[in-house]
Amino acid sequence: MKIAILTSGGDAPGMNVAIRAAVRYGIKKGHEFYGVVSGYYGLVKGDFIELDHKRMSGVISSGGTFLKTTRFESFKELENQEKAVENLKKHGIEGLIVIGGDGSYRGAMSLSKLGVKVIGIPGTIDNDIYGTDFTLGFHTALDTIVESMDKLRDTSMSHQRCSIIEVMGRNCGDLALHAAISGGAEFLVTPENPISKDEIIETLKEYKMEERTHAIIVVTENIMNVHEFAKEITEKSKFTAIATVLGYVQRGGSPTAEDRILGTRMGAYAIDLFDQNINGVSIGIVNERLVYLPIDVVVNNKRPASPLYKIVTEVS
Ligand code: ADP
Ligand code: F6P
Repeated sequence: MKIAILTSGGDAPGMNVAIRAAVRYGIKKGHEFYGVVSGYYGLVKGDFIELDHKRMSGVISSGGTFLKTTRFESFKELENQEKAVENLKKHGIEGLIVIGGDGSYRGAMSLSKLGVKVIGIPGTIDNDIYGTDFTLGFHTALDTIVESMDKLRDTSMSHQRCSIIEVMGRNCGDLALHAAISGGAEFLVTPENPISKDEIIETLKEYKMEERTHAIIVVTENIMNVHEFAKEITEKSKFTAIATVLGYVQRGGSPTAEDRILGTRMGAYAIDLFDQNINGVSIGIVNERLVYLPIDVVVNNKRPASPLYKIVTEVS
């Protein structure tokens, strides 16, 4: 079978690992591989490159995606989706592996409806995909955030300040939640845990009375202007607060061993599913076991809030 692979949406550490595993395992099973350059944009343009065993050399430790990625909103148009199907047919490609997040999955669902045999691998740092405990790239981004938090703690303790740290996640608080626990934050503000600014300020005033000298607040992006909030804390409590937006640094970097193992398992599993004539599905990892669910089920359901919310503030 000729199989194409594309990466789409925000890049995530581990995408290259999943491609490597699919290609190397798939070649042993008798398949041929093409990489689509720049996600759905490349699919519509017909930008394919051959992927062989040798091309996968060295990619295991690289972050980002060597196939490149784009945000290509016009892929929502049927005309472009049909053009993509035509290009796949022209190259004799029967199967497509899409590695990306929620938006990429919507594109994959459209292609599946047009008859393409698609398998989705959840590749995003956001951990916002239904049907999997973890997405590829989440753990690497988390480690980057925790490392940054440790550094911010050093300086905020030294100066007796309050640090606000804004992390990515789009509309999902999982990165912030796991970072708050691992980095020992005092406060966590996420879409699932919408604690108010006033509540935080009041607690900070109590901290001052208890002679606590520093505090860390982790906030998911898209909730508030953290720099404005820092000013408000400085004006209303006795803490000097400084906000740091971690930004794109948390999306890059060499994948952790955990993401390398996950990417390898998911990439190889995609080939096993094709070989069993299973497609139109998204791969997930649940309680350490690989699973799959129809892509439309994954796209149309929201992840339940993590049970870790019960513990996060209890230890601050
Ligand atoms: P992510 O996959 O990380 O969530 P985006 O939401 O930007 O990132 O989606 C990645 C790409 O998937 C978009 O740029 C677009 O090409 C495609 N896409 C997103 N939504 C849809 C949709 N509703 N229908 C078809 N394609 C879509
Ligand atoms: O989906 C991954 C992600 O990094 C989100 O956390 C963030 O909101 C978004 O992508 C940023 O996207 P862009 O690279 O288009 O600015």
